[in-house]
Amino acid sequence: MRLAQVLFSQGFGTRRDCAGLVAMGRVSVGGRVVDDPQAEFDTDGLVFEVDGQAWPYQERALVMLHKPAGYECSQKPRHHPSVLSLLPPPLRTRGLQPVGRLDEDTTGLLLLTDDGALIHRLTSPRHHVPKVYEVGAKHPVDDAQVARLLAGVVLDDAPTPVRAAAAERNGERGLRLTLLEGKYHQVKRMIAAVGNRVETLHRSSFGALALPADLAAGEWRWVAPDALR
Ligand code: URA
Repeated sequence: MRLAQVLFSQGFGTRRDCAGLVAMGRVSVGGRVVDDPQAEFDTDGLVFEVDGQAWPYQERALVMLHKPAGYECSQKPRHHPSVLSLLPPPLRTRGLQPVGRLDEDTTGLLLLTDDGALIHRLTSPRHHVPKVYEVGAKHPVDDAQVARLLAGVVLDDAPTPVRAAAAERNGERGLRLTLLEGKYHQVKRMIAAVGNRVETLHRSSFGALALPADLAAGEWRWVAPDALR
């Protein structure tokens, strides 16, 4: 693929912007500046640098973000900035979308991708992707609450009970909950249904991926496409 086309496909602006970046000598490959926009490269395993920052070529982009509180997952946020504002411009230009949503006050692991089929697979209720949430509750968590969460509680929008795939107490007011669906405010509504209240909510894993301890709130990282399997 031509270098200007590589940049275009990776979100570095219009075709003209991308040809300009190359012609200005701002792009290098393998440590050498390439200023010919038409120079051809094999995209397999290609890493290029723009203004000294390395970018791996990715046909589809998949990243994880440690979502801080105070950000909305919506593309048109109403009261707080969008999580997309935490990503660098090329990823925003590529049209990455959050895989499901976390509430504005929820922290933790959020995946974003421009692969629509992957979003569908990861969010479809048929696929039962486990999500682990660390809940900080207002009142002490007791065994009866844990038993009810495991047995299933009825929420206000559907008659079928929803149950936690796993629920473990974690300290007096803490609970680690594993859910297989992703209904609107599901954790908060399930905890309310057993007579308690969520004060803090953090997602620590999504499918096979756990939030890395060294990924600070607000930071993002590439995810290898096979890391979710
Ligand atoms: N359940 C909730 O209630 N909120 C979230 O952000 C995620 C799951």
